[in-house]
Amino acid sequence: MPDIVLDQVTRLYGKEVRAVSDLTLAIPDGSFTTLLGPSGCGKTTTLRMIAGLDMPTSGTIRIGDRFAFSLAEGVSLPPAKRGLGLVFQSYALWPHLTVAQNISFGLEVQKVPRAEARQRLEQVATALQIDGLLDRYTSELSGGQQQRVAIARVLVMKPSVLLLDEPLSNLDATLRMDMRAELKRLHQETEATIIYVTHDQLEALTMSTHIALMQAGELQQFAPPLEVYAQPANQFAADFLGNPRINLLEGRVARGVFHSAGLDLALPDAMPLPESAEVTLGLRAEEFRLHDTPGPARAPARVTTLLPTGSDWYYHVDMAGKSLIVRQNDAPHLRLGDTVHVEARPESYKIFGADGRALAGVP
Ligand SMILES: Nc1ncnc2c1ncn2[C@@H]1O[C@H](COP(=O)(O)OP(=O)(O)O)[C@@H](O)[C@H]1O
Ligand SMILES: [Mg+2]
Repeated sequence: MPDIVLDQVTRLYGKEVRAVSDLTLAIPDGSFTTLLGPSGCGKTTTLRMIAGLDMPTSGTIRIGDRFAFSLAEGVSLPPAKRGLGLVFQSYALWPHLTVAQNISFGLEVQKVPRAEARQRLEQVATALQIDGLLDRYTSELSGGQQQRVAIARVLVMKPSVLLLDEPLSNLDATLRMDMRAELKRLHQETEATIIYVTHDQLEALTMSTHIALMQAGELQQFAPPLEVYAQPANQFAADFLGNPRINLLEGRVARGVFHSAGLDLALPDAMPLPESAEVTLGLRAEEFRLHDTPGPARAPARVTTLLPTGSDWYYHVDMAGKSLIVRQNDAPHLRLGDTVHVEARPESYKIFGADGRALAGVP
């Protein structure tokens, strides 16, 4: 199955709403590409245009070497001709059919031989842990079970491209974890291209091969997950990925040193920055060391909150009136009100200019 290429795709609703704005994106064949961003940023609209359920106002969409949508070429392939499988956030199962009948319906329509259909049904039901429910009516299932039936119904058709719009949103936390692992495994096994929509940054980080991060209808960054995390293209990307949120410090660069209230950090030589620039420095919670003693490149701070998570500890520290979140994975000997000396790892600095764009980052 070929790449899916969106070229300058815009979708307007009326005159006011730019749901998707000038989106250019090449989704690689076989990738697990996640459209990630806050609610209302245009993810569903993008997915619906790829599926053929909605049409761009301008721009083209290609699936492989043929147009799925192009005004100039007069092409707009109907959904059924695009070879895609769809699972939407609101899924409709047939309440008067059993789970097995719901999942097998498409196979019957395609006249897949009975024995093969049965085998495919059992395979996907086992993978999604609904093999014990095959004879139930879907109206008797919990939300999470229904959601898995909806996914099974699409997977059983073995689509070469699978479009999923927030498919795990109705599941409880544990099941969501299981399903993430399951979807990732299915992707690795099937070689299908998966286009996945979520507003959940952790879901995107854990499952995807590529993340397309969107905000207000515009693409912010398209890269593998750990690249978006480590080298965010702008302040929005830095802030949207990662939990807890990245620490952002406003300051000024002078002679290779970042000056902020209470903190002076020498910047690595390799970091070319305009002199005297107003910048924002981004530092993630895991990118600090806390010391008991002062030292060069250490800034004093006061511990204001200590939050154990079981595996590690989140400290809130007050550094010259600015609250920072620091993550440590060794057991704390610090107490509230203690003074600590904060050091940041220079290789982890992310620096953004006044327009929010990354000026310099990790390697
Ligand atoms: N049918 C529609 N009519 C008018 N505005 C719409 C319609 N569908 C979506 N929008 C608007 O387009 C923007 C993007 O919506 P959507 O793609 O659903 O975002 P997301 O899936 O990222 O939450 C939002 O501002 C939404 O209100
Ligand atoms: Mg949506």
